[in-house]
Amino acid sequence: MSKKYFGVFSYLFQSYYLNRGAFMAINYEQTFSEIPLAQTNLDAYWLPFTSNRQFKDNPRIIVSAEECYYYDADGRKIFDAMSGLWCSGFGHNRPEIAEAVNQQLLNLDYAPAFQFAHPLAIQLANRVKEITPKGLDQVFFTNSGSESVDTALKMARAYWRAKGQPEKSRLISRAKGYHGANYGGTSVGGIEPNRAPYGELMPADHLPHTLLPQNAFSRGLPENGIELADVLEELIDSHGASHIAAVIVEPFSGSAGVIIPPEGYLQRLRQICDHHDILLIFDEVISGFGRTGASFGADFFGVVPDIMCLAKGLTNGAVPMGAVVASKMIYETFMNANTPDHMIEFPHGYTYSGHPVACAAGLAAMDIFEKEKLTDKAKELAPHFEGLIHGLKGVKYITDIRNIGLAGALQIEPVSDDPVRRPFEIALACWEKGLYVRWAGDTICMSPLFISEKDQLDEAFNILSDCLSRMV
Ligand SMILES: Cc1ncc(COP(=O)(O)O)c(C=O)c1O
Repeated sequence: MSKKYFGVFSYLFQSYYLNRGAFMAINYEQTFSEIPLAQTNLDAYWLPFTSNRQFKDNPRIIVSAEECYYYDADGRKIFDAMSGLWCSGFGHNRPEIAEAVNQQLLNLDYAPAFQFAHPLAIQLANRVKEITPKGLDQVFFTNSGSESVDTALKMARAYWRAKGQPEKSRLISRAKGYHGANYGGTSVGGIEPNRAPYGELMPADHLPHTLLPQNAFSRGLPENGIELADVLEELIDSHGASHIAAVIVEPFSGSAGVIIPPEGYLQRLRQICDHHDILLIFDEVISGFGRTGASFGADFFGVVPDIMCLAKGLTNGAVPMGAVVASKMIYETFMNANTPDHMIEFPHGYTYSGHPVACAAGLAAMDIFEKEKLTDKAKELAPHFEGLIHGLKGVKYITDIRNIGLAGALQIEPVSDDPVRRPFEIALACWEKGLYVRWAGDTICMSPLFISEKDQLDEAFNILSDCLSRMV
């Protein structure tokens, strides 16, 4: 039996026992023969956002993690240059989070989220309120970034209805934006291949993206393109401000390949929204919790939205959780909507909104985030990361390099009409050499952990550069 399949067996077996709560020492070697064939197990699993056929021919099974590294089923050590999926920046397997989760499971495993509360949800709401920008005071919990986005969109539309302006319902977002995989988020999303399979979605208008050729190889914020924000005025002219509920954008587009808005662009969007009485929603699922080197994208750009969507870093990726943080004005509008006190003001929420275990993870993650000053750590490391990523300028097939804080992307020249193949091959070659980077469309993305050391990043870029140089 190959080591790889033995590793898969061990992992599946371990998961089975851990899921049953049997925290006991198991001699995997003696017992793996009881486990069904690995191939059978792989067949049943339909992986999300994955080329399943390719994956099942060449499975990449991650079995454990520690600090900035993953370990795969072959026992290989792999440097995580993506913080998982932009979420685990504070370090993998933080014992503080594990301990908090364990304690919580023994104390209160679940409490009904509707019409009842538990202390940790209240505490975490206050922590989130404290660290998000002033003016964002009301915290509504979800279980993911996608749920945060759909919650924010419903909140925005319901807000105008509560104010007696039901016709203010249109949503505006941006080309190349990613806002999760739920129905509303897919509708406002601007990555065409994510929308195309589903036919007609909710109506939404898209501002142009800000990926301009004249900005190629900008370090940090690009100079050109503030005028692209003025397209919002054109959309307002055509629909009328009285029909537009909200504009939703990521402070920088992450999943589309770290597309950073030009200087002044977000300020301009804010001004236009204020002028026309339109809500501004920031989807900070990636940019939140330190990624830019500021606590939130809103802090980095100096622009406060009316609603902010959060997830990922909220628990350091350890337990699924998201949050929507809204201004007091929005909350008060719901509270003052002239309905009896026993009526539900916002008929929305999830069974697991503010789940006690997720809250425990969130509180422990917020402790780490603040005590270890991880925003400062990201900020200190960012210039080194910038130097390394822009050091790849001139390497063949790289047509642009972009960076902000501890996020960056390489734009890769397409192979004839297939923009995805080359980034895919580059990322697979890196994986084979012990480096995890993300291939997303025609880009290679990186978002290292905030606790990475400079020499670890140096080594990661050596591997990346070596793999790039081998590409044909
Ligand atoms: C900006 C943004 N919004 C929403 C989401 C969706 O988050 P989730 O995958 O947790 O649903 C993501 C995920 O990467 C994201 O980057």
